[in-house]
Amino acid sequence: MRAYHLTTGPDLSALEPVELPEPVPGPGQVVVQVGAVSLNYRDLVIALGRGAGGSAPPVVPCSDGAGEVVAVGDGVTRVAAGDRVAGLFFQTWLDGPIRTSVHASALGGAIDGMLAERVCLDADGVVKLPAGYDAAEGATLPCAALTAWNAIVEEGGVSAGDTILLQGTGGVSIFGLQFAKALGCRVIITSSSDAKLEHAKTLGADATVNYREHPEWSRPVRDLCGGDGVDLVLEVGGAGTMEQSMKAARAGGRISLIGILAGANERTAIGPLMGKGLRMTGIYVGSRAMFEAMNRAIDVNGIRPVIDRSFPMDETVDAYRHLQAGAHFGKVAIAL
Ligand SMILES: NC(=O)c1ccc[n+]([C@@H]2O[C@H](COP(=O)([O-])OP(=O)(O)OC[C@H]3O[C@@H](n4cnc5c(N)ncnc54)[C@H](OP(=O)(O)O)[C@@H]3O)[C@@H](O)[C@H]2O)c1
Repeated sequence: MRAYHLTTGPDLSALEPVELPEPVPGPGQVVVQVGAVSLNYRDLVIALGRGAGGSAPPVVPCSDGAGEVVAVGDGVTRVAAGDRVAGLFFQTWLDGPIRTSVHASALGGAIDGMLAERVCLDADGVVKLPAGYDAAEGATLPCAALTAWNAIVEEGGVSAGDTILLQGTGGVSIFGLQFAKALGCRVIITSSSDAKLEHAKTLGADATVNYREHPEWSRPVRDLCGGDGVDLVLEVGGAGTMEQSMKAARAGGRISLIGILAGANERTAIGPLMGKGLRMTGIYVGSRAMFEAMNRAIDVNGIRPVIDRSFPMDETVDAYRHLQAGAHFGKVAIAL
């Protein structure tokens, strides 16, 4: 069967098409016919050899894939052949708070991921798709959607009427926009592109700020809050945007620390964290229980993922380049 391997290499030439043996499910395992994967910024970082991987190469890349169960091993009762499922990002994080031991079970990094026609996973490590979802839609959920859900609902603890700040229009932020609106929140979203901000408005964004035009974007954000600030920031920029995020949050507000798009190691004055009594929580995707709760909300609210573009499997490198260019809005998928 066809798959990709991530070998060592300084660039995307590390992505190599390969033929792998057909997987056979052992006791407690399932084989999934993967219909699509979606890309995350993490996949790019790993492919470019900049970390967050964990296993020695070669590894099958991509954490996020979905498809149909085509074979089950002895003792499997959670799912059956024909069920449409997605893989769980951390295969062993089923419930409760995160433990560092789950890091060793991250698909497409610590262990082989989803960019293969068929994959063998523990039956515990798959989640049924929301009603009516196709494989590409299902493949957007395991990392980007679940991270946004965790940041807003599980750890974010938002209430209807709260104001949430989203940074940029990538996968996590656009799911954040959709969940925040479903929960009755007000959304302020930033982008480098006015066209993307207009697109975000069609999805319900209440107010927008172009962060290129306004490098000190916390000022217009506070102005949009009557001079106060937002209740919750989904921080995907990391250390490079943290100062603006702390300034954009209201006193007693919260920051869900998710990403490092603007850097991981910049120096930041942490005074506002104390002075404003902010709470900052690190978010690392989410558990299976959170995934199932999220899918219930998706079903009830009829949320459909925003897929910018889907590439065929033999154009995988082009799909990575498309993500790298940052021209996308929402998610980038690969059809298998
Ligand atoms: N902790 C976790 O569990 C977790 C899970 C998922 C993702 N992440 C991290 O979260 C970040 C976002 O991931 P993703 O997959 O959503 O990425 P993505 O889809 O590649 O998002 C890229 C978009 O982010 C925006 N962006 C880039 N630099 C920015 C900046 N300085 N300020 C504001 N927006 C900026 C741009 O939007 P515009 O074009 O609109 O400007 C860009 O198009 C990454 O760092 C990723 O590693 C972490």
